[in-house]
Amino acid sequence: MQTVHDAAGLRATIRGWRGQGQTVGFVPTMGNLHEGHHSLIKLARARAERVVASVFVNPTQFGPGEDFERYPRTLAQDQAGLAEMDCDLLFAPDVATIYPFGAAQSVSVHVPGVTDALEGAHRPGHFDGVATVVCKLFNLVQPDVAVFGQKDFQQLKVIERMVRDLALPVKVLQAPTLRATDGLALSSRNQYLSEAERATAPQIHQTLLKMRELLLEKGHARRVIEQAAASTLERAGFQPDYTVIRRAEDLAEPADDERTGLVALVAARLGRTRLIDNLPFD
Ligand code: PAJ
Repeated sequence: MQTVHDAAGLRATIRGWRGQGQTVGFVPTMGNLHEGHHSLIKLARARAERVVASVFVNPTQFGPGEDFERYPRTLAQDQAGLAEMDCDLLFAPDVATIYPFGAAQSVSVHVPGVTDALEGAHRPGHFDGVATVVCKLFNLVQPDVAVFGQKDFQQLKVIERMVRDLALPVKVLQAPTLRATDGLALSSRNQYLSEAERATAPQIHQTLLKMRELLLEKGHARRVIEQAAASTLERAGFQPDYTVIRRAEDLAEPADDERTGLVALVAARLGRTRLIDNLPFD
């Protein structure tokens, strides 16, 4: 597997493949790759003849006081894992390659509506950073298909909407959330957890399963379920930001009698780690 750090090198390699009529699949990441990321590479591998991954810890999607500085950077380890997954090319740019005028002077992509609530409300500016960097990466790689994980459900919706609204010529594919055997969604941030917190963390998944059961099997009212989920997590030692059931399509609030096309979403802090997870009901 080849690693390139600059735009010219990336474009030269991809031009070569294009010259042979090959299709390109793309998996953008922030590195510190785990099996969840690897499953995205596997899906890209199945859907395109060449696979490009990127590793870039994007400064513009982190808010003040968030974990940009301490976000784990493990490039050598990531390279080894990607090579094993049969990835063809790793693009690992520096900040100046992605933000030639500096992050503060960058063109910014804002996706309205779907970014207003949930993560958008709790992390102001986060999705502008995500949409901007993904748009730039799409322009650099120009993939036929790009793979995103359902783990970041709202992010996936933001990207889908950006691609459609800006008519970007890329097909967005989604990959299911990979979990540890105890249900905790794999995440680079899990390693911030202490041993005791790690033992508590799977309660997020259990809460999501309970929310589904209470709505679809027990027929409880949505708002009651949402409040009970928040209380359960608080009792377990979390500080929940939200515990909600939304329409999967656009994350809008469903009508009281809506039972299809729903997703439960949770964000909660455990000590100094913020965890997010979700469960599509269908
Ligand atoms: P990162 O958190 O590194 O995640 C990269 C991709 O891996 C995302 O599409 C994410 O949803 C997916 N992913 C993470 N954990 C997963 C799991 N347990 N199962 C399945 N997929 C999983 O998301 C980002 O980076 C950034 O915001 C990015 C899109 C790269 C823009 O900077």
